[in-house]
Amino acid sequence: MSYKAMSTRSATATGMTWGRDRVVVLDFGGQYSHLIVRRCRDLGVYTELLPSDVPIEALKKATDSKGKVRGIILSGSPFSVHEPDSPRCSPEIFELNIPILGICYGAQLIAYMRGGVVEEGRKGEFGRTELFFKPDSELFEGLNTGGRLNVWMSHGDVIRSLEGAEIIGYTKNSPIAAFRIPISNSHTIYAYGIQFHPEVHHTDNGDKILWNFLYRICGCERNWTMESFVRDKIEEIKREAGGSKVVCGLSGGIDSSTTAMLVSRAIGDNLTCIFIDNGLLRAGEAEEVLNTFRDRLKLKVVFVDARERFLNALRGINDAEAKRKVIGKLFIEIFEEEAKKIGADFLAQGTIYPDRIESARAGSGSKASRIKSHHNVGALPARMGLKLIEPIKELYKDEVREVAKELGIPQSIINRHPFPGPGLAARVIGEVTEEKLRICREASRIVEEELKRSGWYDRVWQAFAIVGDDLATGVLGDARSLGRIVTIRVVESVEAMTADFVKLPYEVLEDISRRITNEVRGVTWVTYAISSKPPSTIEPC
Ligand code: XMP
Repeated sequence: MSYKAMSTRSATATGMTWGRDRVVVLDFGGQYSHLIVRRCRDLGVYTELLPSDVPIEALKKATDSKGKVRGIILSGSPFSVHEPDSPRCSPEIFELNIPILGICYGAQLIAYMRGGVVEEGRKGEFGRTELFFKPDSELFEGLNTGGRLNVWMSHGDVIRSLEGAEIIGYTKNSPIAAFRIPISNSHTIYAYGIQFHPEVHHTDNGDKILWNFLYRICGCERNWTMESFVRDKIEEIKREAGGSKVVCGLSGGIDSSTTAMLVSRAIGDNLTCIFIDNGLLRAGEAEEVLNTFRDRLKLKVVFVDARERFLNALRGINDAEAKRKVIGKLFIEIFEEEAKKIGADFLAQGTIYPDRIESARAGSGSKASRIKSHHNVGALPARMGLKLIEPIKELYKDEVREVAKELGIPQSIINRHPFPGPGLAARVIGEVTEEKLRICREASRIVEEELKRSGWYDRVWQAFAIVGDDLATGVLGDARSLGRIVTIRVVESVEAMTADFVKLPYEVLEDISRRITNEVRGVTWVTYAISSKPPSTIEPC
């Protein structure tokens, strides 16, 4: 279950909270923008994604401050620099006197802003392309490939000429596929442009090129390891909240668990975690969370058995959105009651990096419609006068997993599939009744067990059972009987934006089906959901 506050998703995207040196990627909307950030972080440099139109003052300030901006990378974009609405950045980035690397559109934008000629979509390049490069260029240092490299291209426009630039790479269709041009006031600092994408795996030695930019050209320090993150974060939380009382909604999900552990390492018993059993949890979930966090990891956990309150509130409600609203509202009510008893000053929350970026992207124009209202405790900080601590807000999901490991959170928690805020109510179609909950919970447990047994659990995004009100005829013993239809949903996905059903072997499906009809009372049929997202969503409600 996620206890995240959606309202904090509107956190400013100018970020810059990390007190160490960093590289900034300006986001022009390219499909690989996040990937650039990921690669740089994997190479050991803290890197942030900021909107392309971030105020220059923010960059200037950060360039002067303790945690300096050491370099700026301009991402790709679906636009052409010639389109009137194409995204731009402040030309003053060339006056910050720090190295710049433009990738694809970023390279074209540098050329365009420096008075070069960018020709519109005649003969672009898409896919694998051979680059001929100058081996003595600092960007390509250490590449012992004879001045040739297979790179990945995806562009229609072509940089034709750029006065003052040194050409350090070309391809068949791009006379200026890589260049460097001095930045004003300096003949030692350059803006580099590369037409290809070093961040994708299809580009050979792409990591080495990024490494050269980060370390050789920008002079970055290697500061981004999960060990140093944990150390610094604990110190930061101590400074910020030491001596104060903090509450944290603990769900047993990876984000809230990691948040709770970090805060607990910093302030010990001044942290109180609140774990609410809403009766909509997976089989064994409440026990596992309490065993792990209270008994093994010694966190202070207040357990609230609110099963009856939730089930009563849900009685008679059929509509999916209405169920979500009821659950969200009640959850906040209970959380507030408990938090008041503790008299906390801070609320710790597991907001992660993609949450903030998504909201910043959504906030900057794209009108993402609300498909489902995810419940949250977002209103609480303002209502209760609580200050927020969001210790993992700089992290991507897999970085959170690494931090969790570092903090000693058991693998069973780290690797468990994500679970929606409204819990099993998202998987019980129509009214939530005790009988349907029982069927959904038991059948889901069997799905998880069988996937683990057959080695599929860790290969899929989510796997669970769904139950509704439809009945189907079966034969039990010699008698006809009516029973529920259980639908199995197993999906593969990257971050849940899109998803497809997993082509499980028939044998695995057969085992699941047999066990469910044999072991879960009241089920006569088992079906497999084969719809992708879109048009379906992952959860049925
Ligand atoms: P859908 O069903 O929208 O789900 O395709 C996408 C992902 O989000 C999870 N999900 C939720 N997570 N609160 C959450 O924290 C919610 O209310 C919620 N609803 C869906 C879902 O499990 C999937 O991984």
